Amino acid sequence: MDLMQKITSLAKRRGFIFQSSEIYGGVEALWDFGPLGSLLKNNIKQEWLKRFVQERNDIVLIDGTVIMHPKVWEASGHIKNFTDPLVECKNCHNRFRADHMESGEFVGQGKAKEKDQCSQCGGKEFTESKQFNLMFKTFLGPVEDKSHQAYLRPETAQSMFTNFAQIQETMRLKIPFGIAQIGRSFRNEITTGNFIFRSREFDIAEIEYFVKPGTDEEIFETWVAEWERFFLYLGLKKENLRRLEHKKEALAHYSKRTVDIEYKFPFGWSELAGIANRTDFDLSQHSKFSGRDLDYFDEEVSKRYIPYVIEPTLGIERLLLALLVDGYEEIKGARTETTKAAKEVEVLLKLHRSLAPIKVAVLPLVRNKIELANKAKEVYRLLKPHFICQYDELGSIGRRYRRQDEIGTPYSITIDFETLEQDDVTIRDRDTMAQERIKINDLAEVLTKKLK
Ligand code: GAP
Repeated sequence: MDLMQKITSLAKRRGFIFQSSEIYGGVEALWDFGPLGSLLKNNIKQEWLKRFVQERNDIVLIDGTVIMHPKVWEASGHIKNFTDPLVECKNCHNRFRADHMESGEFVGQGKAKEKDQCSQCGGKEFTESKQFNLMFKTFLGPVEDKSHQAYLRPETAQSMFTNFAQIQETMRLKIPFGIAQIGRSFRNEITTGNFIFRSREFDIAEIEYFVKPGTDEEIFETWVAEWERFFLYLGLKKENLRRLEHKKEALAHYSKRTVDIEYKFPFGWSELAGIANRTDFDLSQHSKFSGRDLDYFDEEVSKRYIPYVIEPTLGIERLLLALLVDGYEEIKGARTETTKAAKEVEVLLKLHRSLAPIKVAVLPLVRNKIELANKAKEVYRLLKPHFICQYDELGSIGRRYRRQDEIGTPYSITIDFETLEQDDVTIRDRDTMAQERIKINDLAEVLTKKLK
């Protein structure tokens, strides 16, 4: 089994990620986050909000709609430019991204034996490449015609541009300042695959940072560094991250410069996040299409101008996948020697404490001693208001430690016979397996400190 298969299997087996509508055979590139996956995803978002909204005083948060006025997408250039080149195999009618036909490798769609050959049937004849728009379409109201057509947003950015003037005025913000948003985005990807890496529905966390023209290039650099620091802080290994400067001819229609932060996924270096210099493109376009002035009066220089925008962007699912890959560790032979199971390969998910879905596991040493189980449930009730906890009494203690290690739980509390006499418990550390005894009365405080 390769690493991606192991991660996919762990994610399914332990309740992180399931294929959407699995009982109907699933839907390609749509994923549901299960009990642990949704906690992990939520923790990633919380860390992002804490760092970029709570801890700064120049960025405010919004929550815009998925469906916007259809004109937004005309103005933004998405109707014309948000396309991928599509070719169809004339024999089996499978469709591929023309730009993914490098050496017969259709990224995420299998491998052909020869260059420019269909990976599904071996055919060598394709239709002419056509531009395919990736935006999902829908209708506003009961009439399903062109004039009622709307789109599901492919990025969250646009509502930060359309609300720019209102936000600046109501919050009395002075440039440079940012608007942040985390939200669902939709892309009808032609090529899918690599688990959640390329999904058709996913969350983007992005900031539109409005700056004075002329200061944009310097501020761009600071955001590249800031974005990288965030990934390192969450525990991604430095050697698995690198920058990729987009070539001038490959820049998105709105960008003067783009740098991707790539992660070394098991299927190769691929985009995790990006930073773009969107110049005054979006605000100018929305000004033109809406007829509303979106310029800014800079009191310091007594001048009106349309601000430039630096946009650090990030796919939450991609970060989540990178964290699973980066934290996944297999330990051959026994790390613990208490059970037979421990002699097999042990899996450890080294997630940052703040991201771990379950913070504390509460485990009675054995379950058939009612006094231990009752005491453990008491400890569980005590800790539950403070942390996301899990109570587990099934199987040997060694096996239960391993289950917690595999889902990344940083601390396991064991209630043993000494607990009944001394009112203390052991705290086991996931990474070092070191155990210490702590009085139950001090437990919440000690764990709060450890989890900080
Ligand atoms: N507002 C700019 C923007 O949307 P993007 O590079 O097209 O830029 C932003 O997308 C981020 O969304 C990417 O850096 C990537 O992490 C993530 N992303 C893009 N397409 C994705 C997909 N199909 N599935 C999951 N994540 C995706």
